[in-house]
Amino acid sequence: MPEVNELVQGVFWVGVRDWDRRLFDALIPLPYGTTYNSYVVKGNDKIALIHTVNPGFEVQLREKLDVLGGIDKLDYLIMNHAEPDHAGAIPYVLEHNKRLKLVLTEKGAKMAKALYHVQDDRLMIVKQDDKIELGGKTLKFIEAPFLHWPETMFTYLVEDKVLFPCDFFGAHSAGGVFSEDVQDLLTFAKKYYGEIMMPFTKSGKQGMAKLEGMEISMIAPSHGPIHRDPEPIILAYLDWTSGETKEKVTICYATMWQSTKALVDKMTETLLEEGIETKVYNLPVSDIANIAGDLVDSRAIVLGSPTVLNGLHPQALYAASLVKVLKPPAKYAAVLSSFGWSGGAVKQALEILGPTKIEAVGAVDVNGRPTAEDLKKVEELGRALAAKVRSG
Ligand code: FEO
Repeated sequence: MPEVNELVQGVFWVGVRDWDRRLFDALIPLPYGTTYNSYVVKGNDKIALIHTVNPGFEVQLREKLDVLGGIDKLDYLIMNHAEPDHAGAIPYVLEHNKRLKLVLTEKGAKMAKALYHVQDDRLMIVKQDDKIELGGKTLKFIEAPFLHWPETMFTYLVEDKVLFPCDFFGAHSAGGVFSEDVQDLLTFAKKYYGEIMMPFTKSGKQGMAKLEGMEISMIAPSHGPIHRDPEPIILAYLDWTSGETKEKVTICYATMWQSTKALVDKMTETLLEEGIETKVYNLPVSDIANIAGDLVDSRAIVLGSPTVLNGLHPQALYAASLVKVLKPPAKYAAVLSSFGWSGGAVKQALEILGPTKIEAVGAVDVNGRPTAEDLKKVEELGRALAAKVRSG
């Protein structure tokens, strides 16, 4: 029997669990897989399906819909987001139910046409506060752009106070039905926030503002478990979307012959002595999800890299580029580097971070193995960075 879970009367989870997926967007590691959550809302007169699933899981979705009466009984398909992990099975569902209307925002319509070749006569465009009556169950739509693409919206089930926010409030975990089933869920959710939502902090804040004053008894996101006690995840999102940082530094480094590591060790020791929370990642053996999670509330970033062929080590180059695109709220940065015969790593790091809002507090660039004098410079830089971090 396919797994179908009734969340509240007339609201069913019909999503799928992808235990085997190990990478998202060919970038983000998924050590515990993920889910593509899809929901059926049954009113007295009409039935809606909220999201579909990732391509490859169409038959699983259909088997679950069969448990609830069949795909041909659906009246509406709600597309909160056009990304293929939720919308990829739209062509399959529309093909198997010719009277089904696809409900989406105006920008969503453009994307549905471009990505899935949906014809105009299948589209039903909705705007902020528009409603669809299903008979005893009302779906209300809330425009929430850039959470995670420009077309995204939330769907709210008025009578049961259930929010379907798609990627927002999600987590990558294939296990569990409800959030309390997954140990340390907020840690998962924070990494996910860092990877997916941190570049859109301003939109996240606006999304949270739209939810202010609304009664929400359950949050049913598109990835990971369902929050039947929504308070912890709402409080966490209020914190993360605020852009507020802590007295915390994240250090990311690569080292080839341990000279850069010696600089990083001195920096770490100094920051810890100064009472600053410090996280250290050796890039070639680190999970970028953990780094993204720590960047959500770090006030400063330290990048360590040897000079390789006149520039950053490729792993450090990748990390610097990632910092630029993830747009963490960090205010300060420092660079540590060692070189054999000519420098270049520090210059390249500063060029990448230059256009960001992050202030470069300083750099230490060492020829060969660090001397006691070099380590003294790192200590001084560490104390200066700690003072900046403490200043807010
Ligand atoms: Fe889970 Fe932006 O898709």
